[in-house]
Amino acid sequence: MIVLGIETSCDETSVAVLDGDGRVRSNVVSSQMRAHAPYGGVVPEVAARAHLENLPAVLEEALTRAGARLEDADLVAATAGPGLIGALLVGLSAAKAIAFARGLPLVGVNHLEGHLFSAWLKPNGEPPPPIAYPFHGLVVSGGHAELVRVEESGRIVPIARTRDDAPGEAFDKIARRAGLGYPGGPVIDRVAARGDGTRFAFPIGRAGDGSLDFSFSGLKTAMLRELQRRGVDGSPLDPERLDPELVDLLASFQQAIVAALLDRVAAVHAAEGIRTLALSGGVAANSRLRAELAAWGREAGVPVLLPERAFTTDNAAMIAWAGLIRHRRGGAGDPAEASARSRWPLGT
Ligand code: KG4
Ligand code: ZN
Repeated sequence: MIVLGIETSCDETSVAVLDGDGRVRSNVVSSQMRAHAPYGGVVPEVAARAHLENLPAVLEEALTRAGARLEDADLVAATAGPGLIGALLVGLSAAKAIAFARGLPLVGVNHLEGHLFSAWLKPNGEPPPPIAYPFHGLVVSGGHAELVRVEESGRIVPIARTRDDAPGEAFDKIARRAGLGYPGGPVIDRVAARGDGTRFAFPIGRAGDGSLDFSFSGLKTAMLRELQRRGVDGSPLDPERLDPELVDLLASFQQAIVAALLDRVAAVHAAEGIRTLALSGGVAANSRLRAELAAWGREAGVPVLLPERAFTTDNAAMIAWAGLIRHRRGGAGDPAEASARSRWPLGT
């Protein structure tokens, strides 16, 4: 069996080919980072146009690398939401056209569900290990922070989400204000590695009404104030030659985000017991978060699955994989019925 996956929800155009056991035969990701960098964030219209230009070549490349032809595909999976509507439409329309023309089933995949199962994917053509249900998933990206439980039936139960900013969004906004460019996560990760994350204390944002929801806007505002006080105004800075105090400040900011995520994971474990925790999303590439979550897992006796870095930021392999999992549960449908949606909460 050959599964074709297509992802165009935000600023990466990606196509992947998986086999029926979930082995990744190819996963081509074309980043539009450079097109959006001058604006300090993703511009929806620019994204949609770039997907339209890139998709044919990315598809071709993914098939070539997999040693497969379009005629070999048995199942098509494409991100149907949430995301930028113009961007989503490009990938989903292509997927619908392919499925229609070849009479194939199509799965319109929830992008967050793609992230959710990405920790099982292996590089180098190895098959993913079996998924033990129930498990908990922590999806942390540029647009989302979601803590969910996935039951044996496949039902996804939301437990906590962010009330305001997503952690990746906080990284991106602070990096932009610090003159470190876009995206902010990778550069802050690198800078923070040589800083002292305990030097400045930021409070952990809580929703305040006893819920487990995340909140990162207070931290972001506090951090923006610290930058302003030091005269950091967004003029470009060389990450390798930052003032040592700024390095410690950025390390402390990263530490506060990691602490907030760990705090909620520990609270959910105390409340309902986590059997396995699967981390995912672009922010799952963060070295500090990976190290601390793994350490927490060892301490708590909870297996923590960390995604391969190639599968943390947006990619089509995770979309094909989530599509395949849905298909196994009878979730593939008529291509005519798949429609793009900018909002699509997990579990609905
Ligand atoms: O999952 P993703 O590619 O797109 C969304 O679905 O949002 O995540 C992108 C986000 C960006 O905000 C980026 O700054 C963040 O992931 N990111 C990181 C790291 N690498 C990427 N954040 C922290 N540390 C990293 N190493
Ligand atoms: Zn994503």
